[in-house]
Amino acid sequence: MPEVIPVGIAGLGYYVPEKRLTNHDLERMVDTSDEWIVQRTGIRERRIAAPDEYASTMGIRAARAALEDAGIDGSEVDLVLCCTVTGDQPFPATACTLGAEIGAVNAGGWDISAACSGFVFGLQTASQFVATGQYKTVVVVGVEKLSSILDYTDRNTCVLFGDGAGAAVVTSLERAGQGEIVSHSVGMHGHSEDVLAVPAGGSRCPTSHDTIEQRLHYMKMGGSKVYRFAVKIFAELVEKSMAPYGMDQLGLVVPHQVNQRIIENAAERVGVSMDRVFVNIDKYGNTSAASVPIALSEARDAGRFEKGKFICVIAFGAGMAWGHTLIRW
Ligand SMILES: CC(C)(COP(=O)(O)OP(=O)(O)OC[C@H]1O[C@@H](n2cnc3c(N)ncnc32)[C@H](O)[C@@H]1OP(=O)(O)O)[C@@H](O)C(=O)NCCC(=O)NCCS
Repeated sequence: MPEVIPVGIAGLGYYVPEKRLTNHDLERMVDTSDEWIVQRTGIRERRIAAPDEYASTMGIRAARAALEDAGIDGSEVDLVLCCTVTGDQPFPATACTLGAEIGAVNAGGWDISAACSGFVFGLQTASQFVATGQYKTVVVVGVEKLSSILDYTDRNTCVLFGDGAGAAVVTSLERAGQGEIVSHSVGMHGHSEDVLAVPAGGSRCPTSHDTIEQRLHYMKMGGSKVYRFAVKIFAELVEKSMAPYGMDQLGLVVPHQVNQRIIENAAERVGVSMDRVFVNIDKYGNTSAASVPIALSEARDAGRFEKGKFICVIAFGAGMAWGHTLIRW
């Protein structure tokens, strides 16, 4: 058996745009109310990127913050993974722009398209390269400018999502000195057009006058289907990942920030009290691939990570994909 190098998280960082879009702002745009949004989702406001901000510019700020936190220079980075469904353009990969801007002159990189599960999939990819010794330092960025694919005439979707970026630096545990990544999982049920998708703009339904007229470049969602799926998978992931260690070893669950009620229902189902679950959806809404790394950074900064206890990071979303990363801090 080849040697497996223990992997850790050397640094965390995040960036959110300055502009706040409140529920009251949205009341003036679509037929909705602050009361409905808060009761059904827990969201009070979300951040919206400026016209000159996009995936790479926000990702660069998060990546720089994570590198600074780790005390690692960009030139030491071997691999840049950019998890996003709202990259700067279809190609080249946003990771290329990001890598160049953070001074990762010795690195390669690519984008990971897994929507809300993106960052967890990125962490798993990074861990494998570090564990085998192929790469020593990997920067994983989760970033979205969801405002660029939201239809601000569709109240079903536009109230739920926001923009932002978060990042982690993954190295050997020896170098990181913290945040041992102990287990992972991934899964998926497959694409379903009526659940969560941007229908047009790919090879299946290329851009045309028709697709634009039919607003097919905007996100479409069947919210209640995602709701049921999310509660079930959330509970299963916490249970399965903690089974080898015991629930009393759980310090904090850091879930994808999908909906306050989904998170509360799932936590209740698995018997975890809400004081052991990190939630910041009230401030940012659902930022897809950025939601987990922003939440991880804020939870760490707020002193929510207990030494020696487990942080159960879980994500799920489009493609009916899901995954977890279990971290011992
Ligand atoms: C979307 C979501 C908030 C809806 O909450 P819900 O409690 O399931 O609400 P319902 O589906 O029962 O909808 C109730 C009503 O509110 C209406 N409604 C939807 N959006 C609304 C809004 N922004 N403001 C006011 N009313 C709204 C619906 O049209 C529906 O009206 P109807 O009963 O007259 O048809 C919830 O299902 C959810 O968060 N789902 C997951 C979201 C998701 O997919 N995230 C991305 C994947 S990670």
